[in-house]
Formats: sequence, structure tokens, C-alpha cells
Amino acid sequence: MADCCGPAFSIRLGAHRTLVISSWELVKECFTTNDRVFATRPRSLAVKLMGYDHAMLGFAPYGTYWRDMRKLVVVELLSNHRLELLRPVQEMEINLFLRDLYELWVKNGHCPVQVEMKERIGDLTMSIGVRTIAGKRYRSTEASDEELRRGQKALADFFQLVGQFMYSDSIPSLGWLDVINGKMKKTAKELDWVLGNWVNEHRHRCKRDAAKIDKAGRDFMDVLLSSLDETILPAHEIDTTIKATCLSLISGANDTTVVTLIWAISLLLNNRVALKKVQDELELHVGRSRQVDESDIPNLVYLNAVVKETLRLYPAAPLSAPREAMEDCTIGGFHVPAGTCLLVNMFMTTHESLDVKGRDFEYIPFGSGRRMCPGVSFALQVLHLALARLLHGFELGTLLDLKRLGGCQPMTAESTNGNKGFSLHKLENLEGAHQGLIDIHDRTAFLNWPQ
Ligand code: HEM
Repeated sequence: MADCCGPAFSIRLGAHRTLVISSWELVKECFTTNDRVFATRPRSLAVKLMGYDHAMLGFAPYGTYWRDMRKLVVVELLSNHRLELLRPVQEMEINLFLRDLYELWVKNGHCPVQVEMKERIGDLTMSIGVRTIAGKRYRSTEASDEELRRGQKALADFFQLVGQFMYSDSIPSLGWLDVINGKMKKTAKELDWVLGNWVNEHRHRCKRDAAKIDKAGRDFMDVLLSSLDETILPAHEIDTTIKATCLSLISGANDTTVVTLIWAISLLLNNRVALKKVQDELELHVGRSRQVDESDIPNLVYLNAVVKETLRLYPAAPLSAPREAMEDCTIGGFHVPAGTCLLVNMFMTTHESLDVKGRDFEYIPFGSGRRMCPGVSFALQVLHLALARLLHGFELGTLLDLKRLGGCQPMTAESTNGNKGFSLHKLENLEGAHQGLIDIHDRTAFLNWPQ
């Protein structure tokens, strides 16, 4: 539409006027001169029902609550210092993910094995998220206890439901058509039960072992509890704030990281020259005698470029996260009334020599301005390390390669349906766009242990 309507056009989504912008000059105008005007998010029924009535950081209206929580998250939870402390957790989860893949290969008689990568990577990012936030194990292979199973199901339902179209968000009088209300309320109850258990456990542990928990061993919930318990909010409000903030971080981190990793792998499988270059670079800088370490990442220039190019070609949130104008303003000479929803077309330009951190408006996969993604460093740390270790440890291919190799009977793998929501998932129907370069089951890579 941008091609025929220009870099700024408005559409009506039900009762709401929506402004769509597709040029970096206008993005800059929105996130610099008018950044405060667009610092809030539109409300939605799904977030009201499942997101503690907009107490989740990512959906909270602009104001004192959002400002205080954002500061706490940026300074205490996602600071470089905290990320440094959390690195062993990320490394351990990435290694468990690789170990599981290796065991599959061994079980398959040391032959190439067919793996549903989306599910595996989903498990990996969720494990990292839940471990760093609540110190809990979250691996579907270990889903033995009830809390874990209920948590997995509730979070999966949350991700599936939060992006669903709700009639009442567009046309309030059509609320009676929103038949999935009931499912949302049920999911909210389940989520609250799981998150509530986590908060209670942490509170007891804090009281019991306060002296024993060293700073390095604290997860996000410990930090939130110790920071918020000193405030003057009543306990139930503190608990709601903690649960909502943790849910916001888990949901902000999960889908986005999964889709970026999946796209990176798919793009590399579609471009074997690029794949070979990454492998050669790993060979040169890391070699065969050890694993990739975090300190190798700055030297892996080509791998860094692959991640950047993936974020440019397939930004995980292709229309960013919606904002809403709090006051009338002017964008590109057009009058924008208060209440207008703002969507930013992220498919804009090049990444060459541009920084991802919201300062170069031609390339903003993590958004920009005061509501920009606070998890950039966390995400880049996980993306680089997981991709580097996976490509260093295994040979990847498509099912076509597997057929060509012949011989071993591949293990069967399930196919999952694409997700809804804000993020750009890779679906079978995108096949056409790739002109069949990749096999129909292209989210199912095969893995082989390099000789
Ligand atoms: C590839 C990974 C990721 C991508 C592409 C991504 C992208 C984004 C984008 C585009 C936004 C909206 C920004 C705006 O409105 O300008 C956002 C918001 C947000 N992201 Fe991320 N994100 C990623 C990973 C993460 C991680 C790892 C976390 C947490 C650990 C996280 C937490 C959040 C939160 C809490 C918000 C809402 C911020 C607010 O409204 O104040 N994200 N992200």
C-alpha cells in the first residue's frame, strides 16, 4: 500500500483511525520531536483480560507507573551488568538444547536426523526466559511436574490468544461477537496461578535465605521483590506488578527471538555460500577444539552481519508495536488527531553500517524512542551465541539434502501451525516468495554431526 499511497497514509480499522508510516524521515519525526506524543499504546481486550488490565510493561499506558517500571527493568534487570551475571544461565540452556539435538543424532544411529526446529528453538528461548526471570526449569522434555505443565500450556495459550483479532477493539458495539473471551479469562486464571506460585516461592525464599542468596544468584523475580517491597504499595498490588512485569518480559522475549533465529537458519539454508562463509569464519576464529564463547562474538563479523540482515529482511515485529497519539500533532505536514494509532512499516532500507539500537531511523528492528525494546542487548546476546554454537556444532540442511544423502531413515518430526500476534512467523504459504528454494518442510532442518 505504501507504494501507491505514499510514506504516510491513514486507514480506518473499525472506529479507529490508524496512521501507517514507511519512511525513515517520518519515523524520525515520530520518535524524536513527537516521541512523547506517541509514548502510549492502544488498549485491547486481550491485554485487559490476560495482561493484568494493562499493568504489563509493554502494554501499559504512558504515565508514572510505566515510567517507574521501565526504569526498574532497564536499570536493574536488563543492564549490561545483570546480563553479564546471567550469561552462565543462557550458556547452560543453549548447551542443553545442543545436547538434546546431539542425543537425537546418536539415537538415530549417528545418521542425519530430521528435527522440527521451530519447536526446539521455542523451547530454548522459553527456557532461557523462564530461568532468568523466575529461576525455573522449562523444558518440555522435563515436563513432569504439574506446575511446569500448566505453565507451559498457559503461556502457549497466552501467545496464541494475545494477537487474536477482537471485534470489540475495532467496533465496541460488536463485543458480543468476541466468543473467545471465555478462553482468555481461563488462560488469565491459569497464568495467574502459575505466576502467583512463583512469586510466593520467591517471597518465602527471600525471607528464609536472604543472607544466602548472593547477588549473582538472583533472578529477575528476586530483584523485583527486593526493589518493590521497599515501596509503599499494598502487597497485592506489588504481586500484580511483579506478575505483570515478568509476563511482559517473557512474552516480549520469546516469539521475537524464536522467529529471528528461525529466519536466520532458513535464510542461510537458502544461501549456501553465506552458510559456508559463517562456517569458515567459525573454523578460523574458534576451531574444532572448543565451543564458541561469548568473547568470540565480536570477531565473528560475518555472523554478526547475518543476524543484522535477518532483522532487516524479516523484522520480528514488522509493524513494530502499535503506539497511540496522546495529543494532536503534525507528521510530514499532515494533521494527526489525538487517539490515532501509529504503525511503523519496518521493511525500510539497508542495515549497512547502521546500528540496531534505535538511533538510525532507517533500520529500527527494536523500535525507537522512549518505548523502544529494552531487551536489545539480551536478545542480541542470545541470538549470536545460539546461532554460532548451533552452526559450529552441526551441519544443517533441508529435507531435499536429506533425500539426496539417502541411506538413513530420518526420525519423523511434527509440523506446527504458524502463530498469530505481532511477530512475523515463517509459514508454508511464504514458500512462493522463496520460489521453492527451500523444501516444503523448511522449518524442519536436518542435523548432522560434522566429521
Ligand atoms: C529479536 C528479538 C527482539 C525484537 C526484534 C524485539 C522487538 C521489539 C519491538 C519492535 C518493540 C516495540 C518498540 C517500540 O514500540 O518502539 C519491543 C518492545 C518490547 N520488548 Fe522487545 N524485541 C526483542 C527481544 C526482546 C527481549 C529479549 C525482551 C526482554 C528480555 C524484550 C522485551 C520488550 C518489552 C518489555 C517491550 C515493551 C517496551 C515498552 O513498551 O516500554 N524484547 N520489542
